[in-house]
Amino acid sequence: MKTLLVAFALAANLGTIPTASAQAYPSRPIVVVVPFAAGGPTDALARIVTERMRKTLGQPILVENTSGAAGSIGVGRVARAAPDGYTVGIGHWSTHVVNGAIYDLQYDLLKDFEPVAMITIGPQLIIAKNAVPAKDLKELIAWVKANQDHVSAGTAGVGSASHVGGIYFQNLTGTKFQFVPYRGTGPAIQDLMGGHIDLMFDQAANSLPHVRGGKIKAYAVTSGTRLAAAPEIPTVDEAGLPGLHIAVWHAFWVPKGTPKDVVAKLNAAIVEALADPDVRQRLADLGQEIPPRDQQTPEALGAYHKAEVDKWWPMIKAAGIKPE
Ligand code: MLT
Repeated sequence: MKTLLVAFALAANLGTIPTASAQAYPSRPIVVVVPFAAGGPTDALARIVTERMRKTLGQPILVENTSGAAGSIGVGRVARAAPDGYTVGIGHWSTHVVNGAIYDLQYDLLKDFEPVAMITIGPQLIIAKNAVPAKDLKELIAWVKANQDHVSAGTAGVGSASHVGGIYFQNLTGTKFQFVPYRGTGPAIQDLMGGHIDLMFDQAANSLPHVRGGKIKAYAVTSGTRLAAAPEIPTVDEAGLPGLHIAVWHAFWVPKGTPKDVVAKLNAAIVEALADPDVRQRLADLGQEIPPRDQQTPEALGAYHKAEVDKWWPMIKAAGIKPE
């Protein structure tokens, strides 16, 4: 009888007790799934931000690189994970917008995730191996036209930001060249430096350190304004391809159904990381802009994500890009 009474009292109280997971969260290491290879831009941004988030959350954050199919395999892994805050996904404009217009995804990009926060916005650089003779973007376009049967461009797979940048360039210049897919632009840029491929349309976060080191050439930045971190690189508008603007924004999501207070804890850790002067400097050095504080909320990411889907899907679908 006594046991029954205790059980009854416990059951009566359950409705008012916050769930243990949310209350104690996080009580064990968190996994952040990067849907591209290690050493690339998404990996670099994830590592900079999560290193600082660790301090706030008091638990290790392990970066897991689950790459393939332009990030859609890693994003699928997050969609299927338990909604408990211990599996967090990082993605960007192409994984969470473009891929939905190209691939027959087993998840819904807008409905199967809870937005946590946007972390960065950065342009791409049009880059080439040092052996390419062109001195500026106009000469590069002429060189590509004269050699298109042999020119190759490294990408992170069909539909990745690096691939869409290349398609955009081909459409504007009336050129065709071969795309070589990798599991991310981290390994692709190694092959560019090694001279095995000719070109890349790569996020500044990946290429800027190698441009600074003189290992590759940069012809233009895919933006209307020059990068504060590399003001010597002209914009596409200045260099001869007006309008080739691509801004790759990165953000964190968790699986649908993750408790709101868990999302709030993750968001608070990101906001704190993005306010840290050291993190800000490291991101700025990679050509990244940090969204203003009022754009760092889950709600702002949800609204922006939806607007990007509405804006890009018709254009991407019209471009007829097909998975391999
Ligand atoms: C990567 O981390 O490899 C990139 O984000 C790939 C891309 O979409 O260009």
